[in-house]
Amino acid sequence: MTQLTRDEALAIARNALPMFGIGPGAAIDFVKQRENVVFRVTDGDASYAVRIHRLGHRTDDEVRTEGAFMAALHQLGVPVSDVVRTVSGGLFAEVSGSDGEAYQIDAQHWVDNSSPLGDAGDAWMGTDALTVGVFSRLGEICARFHSASRHIGKIPGYSRPAWDLDGLTGPGALWGDPRRLAGTAEDRRLIDTAEKRIRERLLSLGTAPEFFGVIHADFTPENVLAAGSDFVLIDFDDFGEGWWLFDLATILFWYHRHPHADDYRAALLDGYRKAAEIPQRALEELDTFVLARALTYLGWAANRPDDETSGFLRAEVLPVVVEMCRDYTGTLAKVHSKGQAVGDQQLLDRRAATIGPYSPLFYDRPLHLVSGEGAWVVDAEGSRYLDAYNNVPQVGHANPRVAEAVCAQMKTLNVHTRYLSAPIVDYAELLLRTFDAPLDRVYFTNSGSESNELALRIARHMTGCSGMIVTDHSYHGNTISLAALTTGLTVSEPLGDHVRTIHVPDLDGEGQAGRPGDMLQAALAAVDTAIASLQEAGHGVAALLIEPAFSTEGLPRVPEGYLEGLAERVRAAGGLVIADEVQTGLGRLGDEWWGHQATGIKPDVVTLGKPLGNGYPLGGVVTTEHVLESFSSTNMYFNTFAGTPAAAAAGHAVLNEIIDRGLVARAGELGRHVAARLGELVERHPRAAAAKGRGLFFGLALVDSAGGPDGDLAKRIVEALVGAGILISRIGPNENILKIRPPLVIEGDELDRVIDVLDAALLAEAGQPAARV
Ligand SMILES: Cc1ncc(COP(=O)(O)O)c(C=O)c1O
Repeated sequence: MTQLTRDEALAIARNALPMFGIGPGAAIDFVKQRENVVFRVTDGDASYAVRIHRLGHRTDDEVRTEGAFMAALHQLGVPVSDVVRTVSGGLFAEVSGSDGEAYQIDAQHWVDNSSPLGDAGDAWMGTDALTVGVFSRLGEICARFHSASRHIGKIPGYSRPAWDLDGLTGPGALWGDPRRLAGTAEDRRLIDTAEKRIRERLLSLGTAPEFFGVIHADFTPENVLAAGSDFVLIDFDDFGEGWWLFDLATILFWYHRHPHADDYRAALLDGYRKAAEIPQRALEELDTFVLARALTYLGWAANRPDDETSGFLRAEVLPVVVEMCRDYTGTLAKVHSKGQAVGDQQLLDRRAATIGPYSPLFYDRPLHLVSGEGAWVVDAEGSRYLDAYNNVPQVGHANPRVAEAVCAQMKTLNVHTRYLSAPIVDYAELLLRTFDAPLDRVYFTNSGSESNELALRIARHMTGCSGMIVTDHSYHGNTISLAALTTGLTVSEPLGDHVRTIHVPDLDGEGQAGRPGDMLQAALAAVDTAIASLQEAGHGVAALLIEPAFSTEGLPRVPEGYLEGLAERVRAAGGLVIADEVQTGLGRLGDEWWGHQATGIKPDVVTLGKPLGNGYPLGGVVTTEHVLESFSSTNMYFNTFAGTPAAAAAGHAVLNEIIDRGLVARAGELGRHVAARLGELVERHPRAAAAKGRGLFFGLALVDSAGGPDGDLAKRIVEALVGAGILISRIGPNENILKIRPPLVIEGDELDRVIDVLDAALLAEAGQPAARV
């Protein structure tokens, strides 16, 4: 807001008059001082509105754009006030104040015998007296303005802030962050959820010209003057690009509570349609725009705590807008008979009719997630869930640093890897620094499957053999060659002739306690048998492909020496050791960057995926210089989308985020805390048999009363946790191991909450815990 006193403003206005060719004897009357200062200047028969812009609010280009746009509208016959140029033809003048600052001043012809159609406050309180006929005319004038604006487009030198997604929602919104005005945590949560939902809706609507263009952006009853029988649109102080319907939403917002709100709305839309079309898809979002507009006012008030209008907004408008947020986010909450929200049921039906009913969905009642932040996600009904399951958003859902890095790169350039590009090399260097020698080369891919597929090719190339060893309950991806070695989920392809499976020993397994030596011997003997069988069949051994922590297998606690023994035998048979780190990599296991470092195996090839880009598709194969030289000198590896600058930006931002926030060490610390707490659960709950995992990858093995794996109990617990707002899942051949694997940014108290709720769910589902000793 301007700091000018009225006298200072008057002096500036007076000094500006000659620049507009207005005589020194003109009368100057003060009109208003809100954010800008406005005077009415009368010089003989002519009368002008002279405005001093608040200091530093607009750039010169922005002020110039405003004047030029209004002049263009005027020329096209749109009833807007007529811009007065300076004597030198400029669109504004610059005058120094007594503070030495340069003020921007512009002028328009005064609209004679006019007064504003109404007052926003009266509109809100329902005390004004507009007719439906006025709304119809307002609709029409708005449509005429939009048509002219479309015709004009962005005038040369256009420069204005935009009412786009960022301008409307989020912490950097043009008028401020509405969450800051919320008086309670609950109100803040509602506003936050509504903002995210608005963002999602507008993102899906998009900014095609039929929806989006240069709008007025402050189309209130105060900014339409009634002059005789004419309406004149004034105050373009906020104009810029935005959704066309935002203008209609602005006026509708002020009459939202009015006794005639529905009639006004119908009349406004009818009037608009007389002069321009409203696409059905945009109309569906009219309430989204009304709420978005409402939130802008709260943001405005939050930025001006001492302003009188802010007081009104806080007292009269905020409570209503909070209820609007509740209604808006709860629209889908009308529960369907099967427990699925109506909107979600429709989405499920459409999903089944397009991508088919077999594409898997979690939970009895599938979740329709619409937004997230940190370790939290929000569903379409506005319910929040603590995400203790997802390892792709490693540095948190909707991580702004990653999103902004990708966005900035996409706005700059995104080409494939056949051009020299610094981002991917920078990223490769940083990524490889997290590996130990001799792993110092990387291929980029788009997914875990592509990484493993490439690793298989490399292994075949390096060994001249095709034989593969995998575990008997594993998953490494969805290509043909990986389907042929999938043992951990349903595929119609039979296990390949060239594949042998081994069973991973688990010291926590049924009846295994106290026999680690025997177990190790038996497990390694099984590896010898697999190798011999591959050799006998003429396949030889190309590779062992395993996850260092055996997560699909249910995080078995393997006897000491097992991993080393495995690797040793496979190498002796001429095969490579491939560590699939799609799940266990990037700090997941705590203390070390990679699962193989944490578990002590030394792979020849490491495959990467899921968390690398925090959701942006990015995978990789890390290997040695020797392997890369051999493979790449005889195979041209090119992968269009892999290693683009945008992918590199995502990966780089993820690494920086992990490094800056110390997430690897933190995962180790938090992991030890959770392991201790899970251990307590095992002591107290007879049906909790073993705490598994490390870092931020945990399991809790559940058993029935006879000590056998209890997948049903695990399912009930998973569902109970979802009901309590916590997301986990289950793994293992019997699906009896609870899988807890949150984004690395989860907080200690949030993890405690997961364990507390788990504790209560175990009690509810599996009965009384043993007394503590
Ligand atoms: C261990 C492991 N490897 C590979 C993959 C395949 O990764 P993507 O789905 O990115 O192809 C997965 C996916 O779940 C996985 O868990």
